[in-house]
Amino acid sequence: MKPFHLNQQQYQEMYEASLANPAQFWDDQAKKYITWFKPYDNVLEGSFLEQNIRWFKNGKLNACYNCVDRHLPAKANQIAFYWEGNDPNETSQLTYQTLFTQVCRFANILKQKNISKGDRVCIYLPMIPEAVIAMLACARIGAVHSVIFGGFSSEAIKNRILDADCKMVITANIGFRANKTIPLKDNVDEALESCPNVKNVMVIKRNETKTLWHEKRDFWYHDALQSVADDCPYEEMDADSPLFILYTSGSTGKPKGILHTTGGYLVYGAITHDLIFNHQANDIYWCTADVGWITGHTYTVYGPLTNGTTSFLFEGVPNYPTPARYWELIDKYKITTLYTSPTAIRALRQEGDEWLKNSTRESLNLLGSVGEPINPEVWEWYHEKVGNNQCPIVDTWWQTETGGILISPIPGITPLKPGSAAWPFFGIQPDILDDKGQICAPNKMGKLVISQPWPGMAKTIYNNPERFFDTYFKDYPGYYLAGDEAKRDEDGYFWVLGRFDDVLKISGHRIGTGEVENALLNHSSVAEAAVVPVPDKIKGESIYAFIVLKNDISVKDTLKQEIIQSVRKFIGAIATPHYIQFATGLPKTRSGKIMRRILKKIANNDIKDLGDTSTLADPNVIQDLIQNKLPLK
Ligand code: PRX
Repeated sequence: MKPFHLNQQQYQEMYEASLANPAQFWDDQAKKYITWFKPYDNVLEGSFLEQNIRWFKNGKLNACYNCVDRHLPAKANQIAFYWEGNDPNETSQLTYQTLFTQVCRFANILKQKNISKGDRVCIYLPMIPEAVIAMLACARIGAVHSVIFGGFSSEAIKNRILDADCKMVITANIGFRANKTIPLKDNVDEALESCPNVKNVMVIKRNETKTLWHEKRDFWYHDALQSVADDCPYEEMDADSPLFILYTSGSTGKPKGILHTTGGYLVYGAITHDLIFNHQANDIYWCTADVGWITGHTYTVYGPLTNGTTSFLFEGVPNYPTPARYWELIDKYKITTLYTSPTAIRALRQEGDEWLKNSTRESLNLLGSVGEPINPEVWEWYHEKVGNNQCPIVDTWWQTETGGILISPIPGITPLKPGSAAWPFFGIQPDILDDKGQICAPNKMGKLVISQPWPGMAKTIYNNPERFFDTYFKDYPGYYLAGDEAKRDEDGYFWVLGRFDDVLKISGHRIGTGEVENALLNHSSVAEAAVVPVPDKIKGESIYAFIVLKNDISVKDTLKQEIIQSVRKFIGAIATPHYIQFATGLPKTRSGKIMRRILKKIANNDIKDLGDTSTLADPNVIQDLIQNKLPLK
């Protein structure tokens, strides 16, 4: 077991200092973790209430410089990334020196295509090294990246590109996922039919698969590389200038473009990566998250690179070619830290322990979990079977909006309780509030809020500061409202149960009920739709949809499949409803609002007490819904 960063006394002192004098604490951390070209004038100003929070005012830095250039004197030949493709025979590695050159060349291509500071660039790529290179190249020249997960459909891409008004798209001709291929470029082509402002599409060639070619717009990455220089100056960016936009789901239909800025985000990503993952010089660190999600941004790319880490990057999935893949990779690359999702752990546990037999996993010394609650029995399996009872597990609670981990054990310090994300990180002050805004007694469920700003917090929702305020700051003035239900136990441990708003967590992926409902309504036969979550042994939650068909439509065998296809086309396969129940009507209030609370109870067979139904416009619909309820698998 390697030594832990902090001992109990250091932890205690740092924790107390972070609460007693946050400005001093974050000043120390900002200087320790980040190279600034120009010092900031002020560590923190503003408040949640006034919506004028500014971290590290007037400080100048560059995220790419902090992730790459500054490591070169000491670490030019150190591996930044080992990479393995979906196909186990496809591998590569990048040293910090080669990463530097490739990022510079990539950035020069962007500049050749007229991308400059402040422009938005969409990245829609598989988990290949070029995805990281593209993000860093944008950061280098001050362009703002908007990464879209490769599982999203053309419609989802279109909406995100239009919202951020991207000028350029970076994609690959094709992606691989287990034994399937994903037509990434075709999806982009379809999306761009409605995005006239995208003038250039850079295409990375994954294999010889042909794609439609738009001569004026499309170009191959490998061709463009021929004519660019190996060096590219970085932009000096303001601490408060945008680093990226990342779309995530909220309670209404339209995904939110969460905007993160440079200084605070980078400081927070670096310190949390360092202390929560107990980062050390000879780590081989593996965060399995795709760069299409926030975990991929902060803990696959920016956090580890700021700390000069050697990481492993993986294009594939846990069960291809066999469910031993993760375990074999851990031995092959001598992975020391594995950070993954409860969904992946549950799926691999279900495959059986025999898949673990041909690996020792003795290189591991730390395990992490993120994205959804981890069931205690799954935690135990992860600890005992995967980690050979040798590795602490950091169950990390955070969100796209928080930029980095807010609640997590610190390895070597926090006694672990399976299923709890444990204690707040330095400088973080969470509370549990009841509906009246009073702090809940220990063990009482309530709404999770954060009462002080932290450096990693999102700046705003792109082009929509009102929605930012309304979503997170309006209901409980003076607090950041996370959207989760949680309790704090008598030892101060936080237990996060899940969302209380209309946000679903399917395999850890965040999807809004409103988005899925819009996708369902997009089908010509659907008159009304409502979706609710039901528990799923592997995915955590799955989608149960109630659908009212238009008057003249009768149910035929193929209709469910057609409707599912419509959702896949509108959002992507991750939003596929698992259950579709056709209904004659939905429970609505007299003002027409669908009462999802009742539908959730019906879908979950919790029909003894449906709560207050006195406001229903037509109480008769309930009986029909109950009678036709589908059994849960
Ligand atoms: O409900 C919480 C859940 O994931 C939500 C945030 O989702 P997203 O923005 O996609 O970011 C996921 C990766 C950081 C939260 O509101 N969540 C995240 N981590 C945990 C969790 N729920 C319980 N335990 C966790 N460790």
